[in-house]
Amino acid sequence: MKKGDITSVTIEKFALGGQGLAFVESLAHDGVDARRIPVFVDDVCVGDEAEVRLVKKKSSFGEGRVQQITKLSDERVTARCQHFGICGGCSWQFLPYEKQLAWKEQLVRETLRHVGGFSDEMLGGIFTGITGCDDPWFYRNKMEWSFSVGLDGALSGGFHVRHMHYDTVNVQECFLQSEPSVKIFKAVRAYFFELHKKGVAVSYNSKTHRGLVHSVYVREGKRTGEMMVIVQTTPEEFDTEAFLKVVSEFPEIVSVVRVIVHEQKGTPKRWEVSVLRGKEFYLEELWIDELRLKFQVKPQAFFQPNTMMAEKIYGQGLALLREHFSAEELAGMRVYDLYCGTGTIGMVLSHAVRSVVGVELNASAIESAKENATLNEVKNIEFFVGDVKKILDELATTHAADVIVVDPPRSGVEEKVVEQIIQAAPRAIIYVSCNPATFARDAKLFASHGYALTFVRAFDQFPQTAHIETVALLKK
Ligand SMILES: C[S@@+](CC[C@H](N)C(=O)[O-])C[C@H]1O[C@@H](n2cnc3c(N)ncnc32)[C@H](O)[C@@H]1O
Repeated sequence: MKKGDITSVTIEKFALGGQGLAFVESLAHDGVDARRIPVFVDDVCVGDEAEVRLVKKKSSFGEGRVQQITKLSDERVTARCQHFGICGGCSWQFLPYEKQLAWKEQLVRETLRHVGGFSDEMLGGIFTGITGCDDPWFYRNKMEWSFSVGLDGALSGGFHVRHMHYDTVNVQECFLQSEPSVKIFKAVRAYFFELHKKGVAVSYNSKTHRGLVHSVYVREGKRTGEMMVIVQTTPEEFDTEAFLKVVSEFPEIVSVVRVIVHEQKGTPKRWEVSVLRGKEFYLEELWIDELRLKFQVKPQAFFQPNTMMAEKIYGQGLALLREHFSAEELAGMRVYDLYCGTGTIGMVLSHAVRSVVGVELNASAIESAKENATLNEVKNIEFFVGDVKKILDELATTHAADVIVVDPPRSGVEEKVVEQIIQAAPRAIIYVSCNPATFARDAKLFASHGYALTFVRAFDQFPQTAHIETVALLKK
């Protein structure tokens, strides 16, 4: 097989990113030994038979593009959404939910084995499986929508088409968010369709820098019902009154915000936030055991996109502490919450331990974290803004940590930070991850420095997609 060849394959399994994996015969470098090399194929289901064109060929793997699916897999179910397959919002709707969970569980296990070197035997009793969503539909609390103009000149508004940066699907339905959220977007879209008809360039084009609207966001407090609408625009003229009239038919909207993006050559991008009506935040709650924590979420603040699963993930962190340490021990413990965002995990744990220190790069997230700590009357928590690796050494001299929680971005914990954590010598590390590959890499490193992987569980925060979160405990 060489690049450009077309071959018939059967998709044997899924890869971590959600692509299908087929295996094709390939001659080894000596030109003699034939081996089966994995070929990653987008937009296919396990069990599909397809003709694929090899678009990339390396010695150990290839990438194929589907020319034609010749036989659909028996595993497939009919997707619920009419846009599935074109829309970039979901990738796994063709699998029944229990199969999505089974695959995610298997992928975490395989990644721990291949990347982390943890055999199935080692994982016995440690990897406890996957927690799914009670409802794998309507779960998102935030959606971002965009606009594009098609070749026929018509405006469309919705998610990006799969693998495309500009084109959008003119969505009629979406089952990842609540019905009111879709209704609000459709009303806003109808308003922008009218503007488009009147000749206004609605859709922002990043090449020409022309057009009014970058995106529309609808955010929702799943525990409170409060909603926020954000329209992110260029500085071009915007009829605030007309826009407010459109959204005024939805009493659940407590906050309407315009974010103006200022982009000028030679100067850093700047976001100007103005509240057009209502509050500068919407309220969300996290319910974990007896705890009822309130969060004021501001327009640009990160909040885990699936509130009910965030409760389960944070609840798991709390449960791990309670299982592994007595209430007396916990009452004397200091915890670092690294990569803390708006301080949610730290605030949950603060109820069980002596004190928590949160560290986060994003200054506005820390501003929100402090406000939310006050709102919840949490007094034993402190926050520091800055890069974890700059702040950790300093912190270790003033606040020794008994437990360190990390919830890093997809790239995982930097090697230098792993070393700093080992130097800080906490009794346990709770690792919350949104990327099993970097988690397995880091767990291996921690394990080689005396932190035994004691518990891992996967959590399905994003049903109908291939994303997987994990929560783990590493104990000295
Ligand atoms: C996966 S989010 C976790 C947020 C939070 N723990 C939560 O559950 O909402 C990762 C966070 O790490 C922050 N971050 C990324 N790199 C960082 C660094 N070098 N130092 C401190 N924070 C960082 C990001 O701004 C982001 O808020």
